[in-house]
Amino acid sequence: MPQLSDAIRALKTSSTVALNAKALELRRAGVDVIAMTAGEPDFQPPAHVLAAAHEAIDRGLTKYTAVQGTVELREAIAAKHLRENGLRYSPDQVSVSTGGKQVLYNAFMAILNPGDEVIVPSPYWVSYPPQIELAGGVTVTVAARAEDGFVPDPEAIAAAITPRTRAILVNSPSNPTGAVIPEGVLRAIADLAERHDLWLITDELYEHMVYEGSFTPVAQWYPERTILVHGASKGYALTGWRIGWGCGPSEVIKAMNRLQGQVTSNANAVAQYATQVALNSVEETAAFQAMTRGAYRERRDVIVAGLNAMGLPTPTPHGAFYVMADTRGIDPDENVAGAVLLERARVAVVPGTDFGAPGFVRMSYACSLDQVRTALERIAEVVA
Ligand SMILES: Cc1ncc(COP(=O)(O)O)c(C=O)c1O
Repeated sequence: MPQLSDAIRALKTSSTVALNAKALELRRAGVDVIAMTAGEPDFQPPAHVLAAAHEAIDRGLTKYTAVQGTVELREAIAAKHLRENGLRYSPDQVSVSTGGKQVLYNAFMAILNPGDEVIVPSPYWVSYPPQIELAGGVTVTVAARAEDGFVPDPEAIAAAITPRTRAILVNSPSNPTGAVIPEGVLRAIADLAERHDLWLITDELYEHMVYEGSFTPVAQWYPERTILVHGASKGYALTGWRIGWGCGPSEVIKAMNRLQGQVTSNANAVAQYATQVALNSVEETAAFQAMTRGAYRERRDVIVAGLNAMGLPTPTPHGAFYVMADTRGIDPDENVAGAVLLERARVAVVPGTDFGAPGFVRMSYACSLDQVRTALERIAEVVA
């Protein structure tokens, strides 16, 4: 066979996708595995959103839409950001894509030239570095410390800025750490972007999962240099529906639309309509989000207490639905904890190495409280 491209040969499979597949494969083979790998709400979407998808099909809203999404959905997104975050976007400053993942990729492609550096606080979400690299960029990681609750340090970010830096990326609440970055820290990072004339990319997929304190909309300070990435997957429990959106200055949004118009065209039309209804049904959606937030918070309290009690130090995250457990006590080699937990405890987790945090594992508690409790019992036996 002739060769594949260098870029594709250098590209790794997403480890969370791979490990989740492994857990599902074991389950199919009859092994009772608890999967704490996926970043996916275990709730069904709210009934009014399911009804909206049926309605879209019945009404024949099944054709191509505008590449950047229907104007009605983009208006609903703009209204959401004004109502909830005090941000003012016109529909032409909004681009709808196939998940937040595609929004991020479009954004990197739109702003990076070969060799441009993007500063990414670590631990980071697995797909940032491969996407940056596919766009020709270079990922520059700046480590946040477990002792600081994985909150990045603006001074360390400042020290990483070079003449090649093009963007700083922030993700609060964070996947994988669950850290909610305090407003003062986000402001200091935004000020660095302003001072050095950089893009600021803010990944806000977990906005609706903040358990203490409040969510900070990063685009409030320098909207002319901020690309906001959001979507329906997490807060609206619509992962498989594949709707994400980006908001920012119209020049960069137009560039992202141009790229999408040549690569995939519009995101799924039925899912666009359902997302529009989800955003516009303000009270029902807020009630759904409050219900899921309460459930996640209860699970978080159980898992953090359980892991710390068995001697796996785990900071209390204030958002998202992940914890990062320090497994160096059971695993001096740092990278085998994931395999040990899968084989001996039958609990699938993601090794921290994949997030730039060797010695830790990421556990998702987007599964039932019973599963959380059973997983803790099994892990405790292995640790003991
Ligand atoms: C931090 C973060 N950003 C972006 C995404 C992309 O989400 P989606 O493409 O499902 O909208 C995810 C999903 O896991 C995520 O955790």
